[in-house]
Amino acid sequence: MPSVTRNIGLSLGADICWPLAFEGILGAAKLQVKSGGDSISFQVERMQLEPFSLQAPCKYDLVVDRLTHWFPLRREWIKKSILMDGLYVYNNPWSVQSCEKHTTYSAMMALGMPIPPTLMAPQKHYESKADLDFTLQSYARLFDLRQIGKDLGYPMFMKPFDGGGWQGVSQIKNEQELIEAYDKSDKHLMHLQRSVAGYDLFVRAVGIGPQVRLMKYDPDQPLHGRYLATRDFCSKEDAKVMADTCLLINAFFGWDFNSCEALRKDGTFHPIDFANPCPDSQVNSIHCHWPWYVVANLRWALFVAATKRPMRQNLDFAPFQEIGRQAVPYSKKLEQYGKLARQRFDADRFAEFCAKNLKSLVASAQEWFGSEACRSAVRKKVAHIYPAHEVDEFSERFYQAVQVGSAQLNEDFA
Ligand SMILES: Nc1ncnc2c1ncn2[C@@H]1O[C@H](COP(=O)(O)OP(=O)(O)OP(=O)(O)O)[C@@H](O)[C@H]1O
Ligand SMILES: [Mg+2]
Repeated sequence: MPSVTRNIGLSLGADICWPLAFEGILGAAKLQVKSGGDSISFQVERMQLEPFSLQAPCKYDLVVDRLTHWFPLRREWIKKSILMDGLYVYNNPWSVQSCEKHTTYSAMMALGMPIPPTLMAPQKHYESKADLDFTLQSYARLFDLRQIGKDLGYPMFMKPFDGGGWQGVSQIKNEQELIEAYDKSDKHLMHLQRSVAGYDLFVRAVGIGPQVRLMKYDPDQPLHGRYLATRDFCSKEDAKVMADTCLLINAFFGWDFNSCEALRKDGTFHPIDFANPCPDSQVNSIHCHWPWYVVANLRWALFVAATKRPMRQNLDFAPFQEIGRQAVPYSKKLEQYGKLARQRFDADRFAEFCAKNLKSLVASAQEWFGSEACRSAVRKKVAHIYPAHEVDEFSERFYQAVQVGSAQLNEDFA
């Protein structure tokens, strides 16, 4: 049987902790995978930022990318490598570039998803441009912000149409706060969105390929306490709704790795933010969930690289929209969206691949998570962001949380 090597490139920013885990576990696991008549081993490499020729070949079979959304040099290298060399990358860079929060709301509302009522307001101020004055004087209609507030209803959230990291997000409880927040919004294009007030559960669902992790979330905690460790916090039916919702979004937009936030009220999940195609993967925020992220990421990366899964370059919305046009309740549509999404992510073939080839991965991962190498990776991340006098305390706290998550991996990937 011919021996071949598949190359995985990591396209990184300040992702200090998880790449060490990814590399450490893959190195220790020494996997030889049988696929398509080949015996396959894997190599992983951190990609450098450098000039590139558009004609230069690409040596990677897969790139796990964390830069596209903010680093144009890497994004453009990725686009050329998909088009010219058949590279697979997660996530689809055209979709990351063009499908901001606003597009994702619109697309999912059209499929029937219960997104809270949302309105886009014109910018308060504009960058000066040659034709700006003429355009505004000719076409910018005066509008009554107070009336908009009354119609949408308080409390509401004002947030950038393309935002992330809670930047520029404000909660608005009354007319006065609305006027102040709008005045402050300056040149940012903003949504106003009705609050899901009185929700009884906040869930973040993260998907990596067809795998989904549900995490209970508390936005009122400091960053390191927002993801709660609680398991089994909702019924099987609710878990299926959130998994289908997450996979629908990810398959629709060509995002292998993305997260969805949803608030449950009166038994219905209202997604409020699901354009996160580079979800937080750092041990200091996801702590006990981090081992799952690392192993799920490895499993999907190895499947993609070993089977040479073709990259879906074009988004294909129509099959989802066809389901959306059926005269059936949303719950019935969601089941069908979930099925279609799993097909797009090759869920059955992926499960078979893991069962056949990756049985030993969890044990290798657990060994690594219990090692000094893991302790040091956690500490490096903590030292990068915490003041010196807190490094010992938080390194130990996150390391212990990782042990809890690591002990659950057998159950997670049973
Ligand atoms: N409609 C809403 N109802 C209730 N809470 C909301 C709503 N919209 C936003 N929030 C709160 O504000 C927070 C930030 O909003 P949102 O997630 O839309 O912004 P973001 O900048 O994209 O954040 P992230 O970095 O988490 O992706 C949410 O985590 C949630 O706590
Ligand atoms: Mg959010």
